[in-house]
Amino acid sequence: GYAWADVASLEPAAAGRAVRVRGAAQRVRAKGRMAFLVLRQASATVQCVVSGEAARFAAGLSRESAVDVAGVVALPREHVRETTQQEVEIQVQKLYCISRAVSKLPISVDDASQNEEDVASAKAAGKQLAHVGQDKRLDYRVIDLRTPANQAIFQVQSEVEYAFRKALRSEGFHGFHTPKLISGSSEGGAAVFKLDYKGQPACLAQSPQLHKQMAVSGGFQRVFEVGPVYRAEDSYTHRHLCEFTGLDVEMTIREDYSEVCDVVDRVFVAIFDHLNKNCSKELEAIQRQYPFKPLKYLEKTLRIDYCEGTRMLKEAGVHVEPMGDLSTEAEKKLGELVRDKYDTEFYMLCRYPSAVRPFYTMPCSDDPLYSYSFDVFVRGEEIISGAQRVHDPEYLTSQAKARGIDVNTIATYIDSFRYGTPPHGGFGAGLERVVMLFCGLGNIRKTSLFPRDPRRLNP
Ligand code: 4AD
Repeated sequence: GYAWADVASLEPAAAGRAVRVRGAAQRVRAKGRMAFLVLRQASATVQCVVSGEAARFAAGLSRESAVDVAGVVALPREHVRETTQQEVEIQVQKLYCISRAVSKLPISVDDASQNEEDVASAKAAGKQLAHVGQDKRLDYRVIDLRTPANQAIFQVQSEVEYAFRKALRSEGFHGFHTPKLISGSSEGGAAVFKLDYKGQPACLAQSPQLHKQMAVSGGFQRVFEVGPVYRAEDSYTHRHLCEFTGLDVEMTIREDYSEVCDVVDRVFVAIFDHLNKNCSKELEAIQRQYPFKPLKYLEKTLRIDYCEGTRMLKEAGVHVEPMGDLSTEAEKKLGELVRDKYDTEFYMLCRYPSAVRPFYTMPCSDDPLYSYSFDVFVRGEEIISGAQRVHDPEYLTSQAKARGIDVNTIATYIDSFRYGTPPHGGFGAGLERVVMLFCGLGNIRKTSLFPRDPRRLNP
């Protein structure tokens, strides 16, 4: 009998063993009465040598068909080992086609997943890329996902999620799940998907914001959630999706909001350390297709005040609206200034003006024009925002009204603070952004398995 084996586990020590392997027919080359079939599983490949009658059958296999080979593991000859860099091959005795791929694939697995920027940068580097636009690759995402870089991106994503949960659990946080069908917008603003909930107006949650705070009202001290977040974005950018995966945290605060910053610091440094320690193969696979430099971050994350940040920008000649939010360009520029001055590409900007933060943000007690809030940046782009929350129901009501929010739609949320709620705060990060920016990728669609953007609802 043949023992089932994975391509990645085939080593020279397995020579002589009879194995059965299932994978994709990546390439077939016929030569005389032989055929050489490259079989792929995830990013691992093995050459299968087919002779006799089966060689004709192998030569007719369409690329990407799912096939089974049964045969004996062998050591390739020296010159083959040198040219293919393969340690082992399979001498095929039986070959089955399990699921046939169409003979003309709409896109090829081999070409890089490209968008206009990729093509331009390849051109600048003197490389030639067949121009298949990112949109077309996304139309055929199931084929696109089979490239080594894409396989690696989603392994990295899975490790980010794992490391996030692990770091939080070690700090005493419990994972939980909040409803995604809610009665009112959780972040305010227009970017909300409205729907009909059995005759009642409702929307898809723009964040777990309201319910994660209510969990604290419910007596939980430290909670986190990994779950879907919906934003009816109406601009088409490199970093906004209509559905993404939120990494959310909420916790009671003893003294002040810096306790929340401390958690951000420890959790994200732990995530980055975990990736660097355990994902070097994946990061290299990504780098081969999308070159990037490793992220520079400090053991203890740098915190600078909003006022200090805007001062640095003004000194560099960048216009900043007084008490305003930073534009995408200003954020990018500040990222460069901070990197040059402090040698880090990961930092927190703290104490934003209250006016540019959501209604639930706690103003500073020493100067209510500013708030106990922060954004966190990677390579000059936002990955996290967080704050201490208002836990006084009257003040919360006035803040919501001042921002034009219909308080009736969030009445149960506001009321939940009438029964005694300790001071609390938290933060939210976007999983796709974390992976995109850690890996220096220029487009968030690369880090979403099946991206949802203003123009895309399929596949
Ligand atoms: O900055 P946001 O909107 O903050 C909140 O949702 C708050 N409830 C967080 C809190 O606890 N105070 O979103 C948080 C993060 C952003 O930093 C960004 O990483 C990501 O979510 N994000 C998006 N990712 C992809 N597409 C979008 N349209 C995103 N909008 C926000």
